[in-house]
Amino acid sequence: MACVVIVGTQWGDEGKGKVVDYYADKADIVVRFSGGNNAGHTVVVKGKKYAFHLMPCGALRGKQLIIGNGVVVDPKVLIEEIDMLKREGITPKLLISERAHVIFPYHRTLDEAEEQFKGKMKAGTTKRGIGPCYEDKAGRFGLRMCDLITKEVFKEKIEHLFTLKEKQIQMYGSKFDFTKEQLLQEYNAYGEKLKDYVCDANLELNNAIDAGKKVLFEGTQGTMLDIDHGAYPVGTSCNVTAGAACTGAGVSPTKINAVVGLTKAYVSRVGVGPLPTELLDETGEYIRKKGAEFGTTTGRPRRVGWLDIPALRYACRVNGISGLAITKLDVLGGLEKVKICTAYNISKKATSEVPPSCELLEQCKPVYKEMKGWQEFEVGKAEEVAKKGYDALPKELKDYVAEVSKLSSTPVYLVSIGPGREETIILKDVFAK
Ligand code: GDP
Ligand code: IMO
Ligand code: MG
Repeated sequence: MACVVIVGTQWGDEGKGKVVDYYADKADIVVRFSGGNNAGHTVVVKGKKYAFHLMPCGALRGKQLIIGNGVVVDPKVLIEEIDMLKREGITPKLLISERAHVIFPYHRTLDEAEEQFKGKMKAGTTKRGIGPCYEDKAGRFGLRMCDLITKEVFKEKIEHLFTLKEKQIQMYGSKFDFTKEQLLQEYNAYGEKLKDYVCDANLELNNAIDAGKKVLFEGTQGTMLDIDHGAYPVGTSCNVTAGAACTGAGVSPTKINAVVGLTKAYVSRVGVGPLPTELLDETGEYIRKKGAEFGTTTGRPRRVGWLDIPALRYACRVNGISGLAITKLDVLGGLEKVKICTAYNISKKATSEVPPSCELLEQCKPVYKEMKGWQEFEVGKAEEVAKKGYDALPKELKDYVAEVSKLSSTPVYLVSIGPGREETIILKDVFAK
């Protein structure tokens, strides 16, 4: 397998950062194809925690990194991540697509203003300007990396757009505290800093694939946040499902060999919107605390719930998932019983499909299957357990994994029992032929 796509099957934060870093050991290239710095991907190496928002998670492995055309780039955040890596003694081998769109301060202001205006319909966004930037892309008001690094073109386009953006912001009753001159000055400096990374990344990537290089496509968010397949309108503003790896990096579907779907052993959600299996009791509190469920990007407490099989089966179908990576199995350790939602009841009618609207999702009453829980791993011992391999795991944990696999009709490729790189067990090597 040479081209492997990693996607979230839930509401984001499934542990994509950890798993991408793990798989990156065997990959040549890691590519981001969707989202922007709404993503927060955590990698923990030797107890040290790194949070990446734009930089692909192969960075700590010294791999070739690509930010594809489907990503919206906040240059300030990307420069901060480059600098952070440099301080760690790593010079990232980064290529940025000249076709990737740029996030401007007015996008952040509009993000805030739109959310306020939407009221009940808001998504609880990360306020990073992601939605307004994708709106500009679709509306053809966007500026791309190729514009940012060409000073005259950039100035001309900003001159033209700035009044419109000011008007939009005023329309929402908001204020924009940037002058055109300030924006030009700040962004010209970013363009200078980034210009050497900007190129026809699509050409480089396709050449590498043709030369037999192993490529990991690092998804962002999760299937339930996808603009088409997620819980509209409370998801994000772009496609994040497997097909987006092709459109967001400029690679043909015929080149993709496998899709790995990330799922936590339970579910979590930052932001608003329906979460059918949400736990509002002390079990939920236990999971949130033990799983350190606080947003990597915004620090907001994440809502948590039991594993949702209808959503997982849906994600398997929409993404064509070849195998699952199940993370955070350690977090459920210590619970006497664990539950899996196998179906929903909507107005007393059972369904195993995810309904299209938030109104219907809100009405979903989960049907649970109860299973025996497993013992907690001793503090600091998960790595040791992982070294012994899958068979050494508690029987009840393996029964749980087998049940998830059976209910989702999908094999399990990887299990994760801690945030650290080594707290991982492989059941099937994704890059094996
Ligand atoms: P991403 O957005 O999908 O990359 O996920 P995040 O990094 O936002 O959130 C996942 C969190 O869970 C991070 O703090 C990870 O360090 C942590 N994590 C990942 N896998 C495991 C695991 O198996 N066990 C535990 N306890 N933590 C994990
Ligand atoms: P990673 O890649 C979890 C959520 C926000 C909000 C909605 C829209 O770390 O899994 P946006 O700022 O994109 O317009 O917000 O989507 N959201 C995420 N939740 N993980 C993420 O990324 C997310 N990116 C966006 O909380 O509900
Ligand atoms: Mg995250």
